Amino acid sequence: MTRYAIAGTLAACLLVGLGTGGGSAFGTEGADVPTYHRDVAPILQRHCQDCHRPGEVAPFSLLEYDHARRRASDLLLVVEERRMPPWPASKDFGGPFRDERILSDAEIDTLQRWLDADTPEGDPADAPEPLTFAGDWPMGEPDLILTMAEPYALGAEGDDEFRVFVLPTDLPEDRWIRAVDFKPGNRRVVHHVIAGTDTSGRARELDAEDETPGYSAVGGFGDGVPIRSFLPIWVPGSTPRDAPEDAGYLLPKGADVLIQVHYHKSGKVEEDATAIGLYFSDEPLGREVRTGFVFPDVSMFQAMKARAAMQEKGGRPGLNEFMREVLVIPPGEANYEVKGSTRQGGVMGRPLGRDVLLTAVMPHMHWLGKDFTLTAVLPDETRVPIIRIDRWDFNWQGTYALLEPVFLPEGTWFEMVAHFDNSAENPNNPSHPPVLVRWGDQTNDEMCIGIFEFVPATDADRARSVSRDPSGDAAD
Ligand code: HEC
Repeated sequence: MTRYAIAGTLAACLLVGLGTGGGSAFGTEGADVPTYHRDVAPILQRHCQDCHRPGEVAPFSLLEYDHARRRASDLLLVVEERRMPPWPASKDFGGPFRDERILSDAEIDTLQRWLDADTPEGDPADAPEPLTFAGDWPMGEPDLILTMAEPYALGAEGDDEFRVFVLPTDLPEDRWIRAVDFKPGNRRVVHHVIAGTDTSGRARELDAEDETPGYSAVGGFGDGVPIRSFLPIWVPGSTPRDAPEDAGYLLPKGADVLIQVHYHKSGKVEEDATAIGLYFSDEPLGREVRTGFVFPDVSMFQAMKARAAMQEKGGRPGLNEFMREVLVIPPGEANYEVKGSTRQGGVMGRPLGRDVLLTAVMPHMHWLGKDFTLTAVLPDETRVPIIRIDRWDFNWQGTYALLEPVFLPEGTWFEMVAHFDNSAENPNNPSHPPVLVRWGDQTNDEMCIGIFEFVPATDADRARSVSRDPSGDAAD
């Protein structure tokens, strides 16, 4: 009898263990049937509600039982296909990244079993506390808030817009930015925001040429705008990010801050005036966060063609002219490959000239992008995976900030491999039928850049990196 009771308890433990571990071998009728309040709501809170709540960019709310119940099979479908939450980066290569949005297999299994059991509500007493969403400026009032001079008006319907706004700083001296945050003016239409600084005045010129506020630039900040530094970005649910210890972004005196806002029409006429908040350091910071680039390789032949083309026009070829000879995607081509490496040196980048901490990466392609992989190769040829995007989605491009900066020694080079789909079968292809596509920054042009953010490494970083090395671990 006693033995029996113990065996029963053991079996129960086993069942509970298996239930939470994701196994459903014992059927779904038992005590481990997931309920909305106890099991599903926490998943939706963790992964969905940043966007799926009233006034946000997603088309419907997922705050209440009824919302989730009605769409239960859609929810399962999009998470199984890993279309939602939007997180194009692979979880098996590179990273881990900050604010990563990836459902575990166990979470997906919970949703599956909840659907199989006909979406039971369960006991509201089991429900998690409703989330409170950060209000204005969760890090406190910024030292400088820059806002669009006048609101930008958006039509109710039509294509997404990518618009750059120039925000003059007019500061009398250089300042160090230690953190950046954003306040989207209208969350129903602001899909994401990227930011950078310009000291050349070129962005102002582009702004002056365009009658409405700001100017349109699909790929970045517009033709010929030399970005001094890329700043952190905003997407729904991203948290403001401090630069690593004693590092920051240098904001030269007189620089303009540029924000590029991706607008997604809401079905109503809308207005937006998005603001960026800068947090300054009182002390000058020892390390500047810098931006580097990996471009496609240019062959000798392509370089000669670019020179010849420019000679006819009477100018000297810039980067874009070279690239127009390199990135030439024929119509109908479904798997056009582009490779880039900074190993050889020359115009297209060179191996790292010093030890650095890699803090973030931002793969960049347009609508035809298909996949993108960036690897760092150390001087001893060790390959360090940085990021892979298996299903590129221009709608959800962004900066991927590494949770732990990655130490890369002097002499490291980057390798980029990307593919483009210019076939009629690509639903994102802006041209029907497909046309020849070259490098450029309009919607019908393409780009392929591995943008990365780094700071010079200190002795402390070097020491830490040695102790993180597997051979170093054994010694602790
Ligand atoms: C970062 C914002 C964001 C997060 C987080 C997010 N969604 Fe979405 N979701 C959207 C947007 C925006 C759309 C509209 C379609 C689009 O733009 O891709 C959408 C559309 C959908 C759709 C409609 C199907 C479709 O492909 O259009 C479903 C279903 C959905 N989301 C479920 C979820 C679930 C479930 C989660 C959490 C596990 C989630 N979403 C997390 C932004 C988000």
